[in-house]
Amino acid sequence: MAKTARFLIPASAVAGTAGLTWTISTGAGSHVTVTYPGTFNATDFLERARNGRIVFAGDSIGRNQWESFLCMLAQGVSNASAAAIYEVNGKPISKHRGFLVMRFRDYNLTVEYYRLPFLVIIGRPPRGSPPEVKMAIKVDQLHWFSKRWVGADVLVFNAGHWWNEGHYFEENGEINKTMGVMEAFQRSLQTWRKWVTENLDPETSHVFFRSYSPAHYRNGTWKDGGHCDLDLQPETNSKLVAPEPANNRPISEVITEMRQGNYKRVEYLNITHLTEYRSDGHPSRYREPGTPPDAPQDCSHWCLPGIPDVWNEILYAHLLSMGFRTNR
Ligand SMILES: *[C@@H]1O[C@H](CO)[C@@H](O)[C@H](O)[C@H]1NC(C)=O
Ligand SMILES: *[C@@H]1O[C@H](CO)[C@@H](O)[C@H](O)[C@H]1NC(C)=O
Ligand SMILES: *[C@@H]1O[C@H](CO)[C@@H](O)[C@H](O)[C@H]1NC(C)=O
Ligand SMILES: *[C@@H]1O[C@H](CO)[C@@H](O)[C@H](O)[C@H]1NC(C)=O
Ligand SMILES: *[C@@H]1O[C@H](CO)[C@@H](O)[C@H](O)[C@H]1NC(C)=O
Ligand SMILES: *[C@@H]1O[C@H](CO)[C@@H](O)[C@H](O)[C@H]1NC(C)=O
Repeated sequence: MAKTARFLIPASAVAGTAGLTWTISTGAGSHVTVTYPGTFNATDFLERARNGRIVFAGDSIGRNQWESFLCMLAQGVSNASAAAIYEVNGKPISKHRGFLVMRFRDYNLTVEYYRLPFLVIIGRPPRGSPPEVKMAIKVDQLHWFSKRWVGADVLVFNAGHWWNEGHYFEENGEINKTMGVMEAFQRSLQTWRKWVTENLDPETSHVFFRSYSPAHYRNGTWKDGGHCDLDLQPETNSKLVAPEPANNRPISEVITEMRQGNYKRVEYLNITHLTEYRSDGHPSRYREPGTPPDAPQDCSHWCLPGIPDVWNEILYAHLLSMGFRTNR
């Protein structure tokens, strides 16, 4: 049976509206109040973002969100041809390393994606490291792609899915074997915070860090037969929904720290709980053409149109609340 993709903020998530002010539930009794016209207006966004740069940086689920955003914006381009929206270096939009820059010609707008599962550098360990250490995550060095983000108007970061056991961490040029993965993730977020506050203009850059995107593997993990193809409807029982994952805490804490400092245009994009209900939204066994039938199911990425469109609607709502406009 085909899955139905829903791609508006679900009515059940709207706790109240007063004119253009919407109160959107992020679940478990929490709300975010935003200015929102009720539907994504691509023309409006393109006009606001004229001569601008939108940057997504993170893992492949960040890419999923970037692809969703491109599709949503393309609705606002009349005669959307390959000449009107294109990758500036002619790169194909297939699986890739590095980065992709899509240009909306008539608006002189770029929407960019940087593949960086850790945001910080992962590479060879320093000389003299123990021989079992082949790769190290350098928690105090943000990736050099960050140089390209200076001057961006909207930046949407994500991380977390790759921060699991089995890595070696490096700080101050030395491998630190006693540093736990959560501690290392926190250090990397501090490295990120420092970079943002030192390199972006707090008046013109709008910075978001998206919360964790839940996976829904039933009866096993991704590599031992876990599946989600039998989930055809959203979960309705809130008791069956997983609790807030531990990785969200250091993210929301670093955002709070920045807002308490003088950085106002920074938001925690809180999508975890509302996404937990959507076990039906993954590609499951309906993967890219040519995938062998016995390949693992994909219960961590999202079908498009689909769930990441909702994240982007919330992103748009936050930007409207911030009065986003490039004024160029
Ligand atoms: C994010 O949303 C969840 C679920 O609604 C809520 O429990 C949590 O407190 C929110 N986190 C933040 C930092 O607002
Ligand atoms: C979308 O935004 C454009 C530009 O601001 C505006 O002219 C148009 O009326 C909006 N459309 C809707 C349906 O609100
Ligand atoms: C296009 O936007 C860039 C900023 O991203 C700006 O530097 C450049 O001047 C713009 N070009 C035109 C023709 O407006
Ligand atoms: C759409 O764009 C293509 C390529 O730029 C052009 O050949 C075609 O005439 C355009 N169609 C309309 C209706 O403007
Ligand atoms: C290694 O990391 C731990 C945990 O963050 C810290 O307490 C310790 O001081 C670090 N060791 C060195 C040599 O920096
Ligand atoms: C889970 O796996 C077991 C053993 O492979 C199988 O018997 C059972 O039917 C599976 N349950 C679901 C819900 O797929």
